[in-house]
Amino acid sequence: MINLYVNKVIPDQEFRSLIYSGALILYSKLATNADFCDYAKKCVLNEFGDDIDPRLIHVRLPIDEFVKKVAALKAEFTNSIQSKAHIRDFLIEIGQDPKDYFLDVPRIRVVPDYDYLHAGVSYAYLPHRDTWYGAADCQINTWMPIFPISADQTMMLNPYYFDRPVKNTSGDWDLKNWVMNERPAAKQHIAAENRPHPLSLEQIRQETELRVAGESGDMIVFSGAHLHGTVRNNSGQVRFSIDFRIYHCEDLLSRRGARNQDGSAKNIEFGYRDLFRASDFEPYSGVIK
Ligand SMILES: [Fe+2]
Repeated sequence: MINLYVNKVIPDQEFRSLIYSGALILYSKLATNADFCDYAKKCVLNEFGDDIDPRLIHVRLPIDEFVKKVAALKAEFTNSIQSKAHIRDFLIEIGQDPKDYFLDVPRIRVVPDYDYLHAGVSYAYLPHRDTWYGAADCQINTWMPIFPISADQTMMLNPYYFDRPVKNTSGDWDLKNWVMNERPAAKQHIAAENRPHPLSLEQIRQETELRVAGESGDMIVFSGAHLHGTVRNNSGQVRFSIDFRIYHCEDLLSRRGARNQDGSAKNIEFGYRDLFRASDFEPYSGVIK
């Protein structure tokens, strides 16, 4: 059984415990999320221009130009101070203390219609747990669409597998290699996806999928140990979304978190280098001695 909480104010420790137990939280009314989406829209319009609905931009652009623009958009969005500040403000609005959390830089995902492009900068993630990619057990994921979306262009969670192991290839996954070599090469993988992502070795049930299709800024929060993935986008429109991850300092250091069912990625600690303290954006390595 998985519980879904909607717009509920949950005290600090309980918030994390619920997430680690598999609970999902939906926030549909946060002012900070509305602001974050407004900021993201500005970044999108800066890159693609404002003379066409950005959700239809792929109709106009050749793939190589699309890829170039998406890469520039991602770099600007991910590395800006404003993006980190929006995460700090989100934590405050939901009643958490940013001093207690680390954040991973936020990502903007640009998923065009599947037949146009589904690799490289627009990689369509097959069902996975983030722990297969080396995420800490205490990783808390957030995800929200920037424009309203439908169920055929969203992300999926598959709560059925939260407490059921799935045979997978995460033992071949080396986080150090991904950060140093594979991730920077995303732009080169335009037509096909040859990078070795961790994958399920079992057939995943589709009938237990949960697909959240909301309005701009409607955010789902869930443990990184939940099985999730990209829904094949057959909508004819580009899906723009924001996701970011937060980690409670104590839980990161004490290795508390969701139960690791089946992940065995290597060099997990290498991922900590990407983290910043949510209150002042100090790099992880500068905070933890
Ligand atoms: Fe993921």
